[in-house]
Amino acid sequence: MWASGDYPSMVETFLLPLGPRLVEACGIGPGMRVLDVAAGTGNASIPAAQAGADVTASDLTPELLEAGRRRAGAAGLTLEWVEADAERLPFGDESFDVVMSSIGAMFAPRHEDVADELVRVCRPGGTIGLLSWTPEGMIGALFRTMGPFAPPPPPGAQPPPLWGSEEHLAGLFGTRVDFRTLTREMLEITAFERPREYGEHFKEKYGPTIAAQANARKSGREDEFNEALDAFCDEWNRGTSDDARFEQEYLIAIGTRA
Ligand SMILES: C[S@@+](CC[C@H](N)C(=O)[O-])C[C@H]1O[C@@H](n2cnc3c(N)ncnc32)[C@H](O)[C@@H]1O
Repeated sequence: MWASGDYPSMVETFLLPLGPRLVEACGIGPGMRVLDVAAGTGNASIPAAQAGADVTASDLTPELLEAGRRRAGAAGLTLEWVEADAERLPFGDESFDVVMSSIGAMFAPRHEDVADELVRVCRPGGTIGLLSWTPEGMIGALFRTMGPFAPPPPPGAQPPPLWGSEEHLAGLFGTRVDFRTLTREMLEITAFERPREYGEHFKEKYGPTIAAQANARKSGREDEFNEALDAFCDEWNRGTSDDARFEQEYLIAIGTRA
């Protein structure tokens, strides 16, 4: 799903601030062994490498890792790029000082499996850092809007935006991670003139939206899908009709692994 559309260009259009924000929140510095889970094109991995860390960027989608490798190469950085499922990481126990994920691990279907893996590969006393869209924020609402049109999720899957809930994280990690930072922040988006251009951008470039639209088309509900997405854009526009502005809420959770 994440190889469809053009996720790398979405990152360039409005997601770039998230990676450096997570790297800063995790306190990443020279010599640290850092694992970025569901790293995509390296939005967090690349700034971590720029901070001097020894970075492994892992993701399920080889096309995105390849785009990340090119970006890192252009910046003169060397990172390790590894194809990996967040639910079964191919790394040894306690092998990283920092295990982080920027709007990434949240998209693997089985949350408990992912949480177990994040804990397993992080050394005791190390840092687990997660940046996730919140259920109450704009992307949480986008997933609720798309849900009725989307293909059925895999068995056992839970909704991605749950990772942006403090209670859900407490349930997933229990006493294994002491979250010292749990902060909600906004990503402001001013890249679109008219509000519905935001929806068009998602239909063209964002895997989950492309999948929902294709499924709606199959069941003869594409017009209904388009109307729902237009209404969503109008509802969440905080600017004007010809100068759109959106705010996407995310949770930054930084904790120490017991
Ligand atoms: C919204 S993108 C985030 C990418 C990047 N971290 C960023 O900040 O731009 C979600 C990423 O999760 C990855 N992903 C989805 N399911 C995954 C899984 N089970 N294991 C590893 N990566 C996964 C996708 O391939 C995609 O790169």
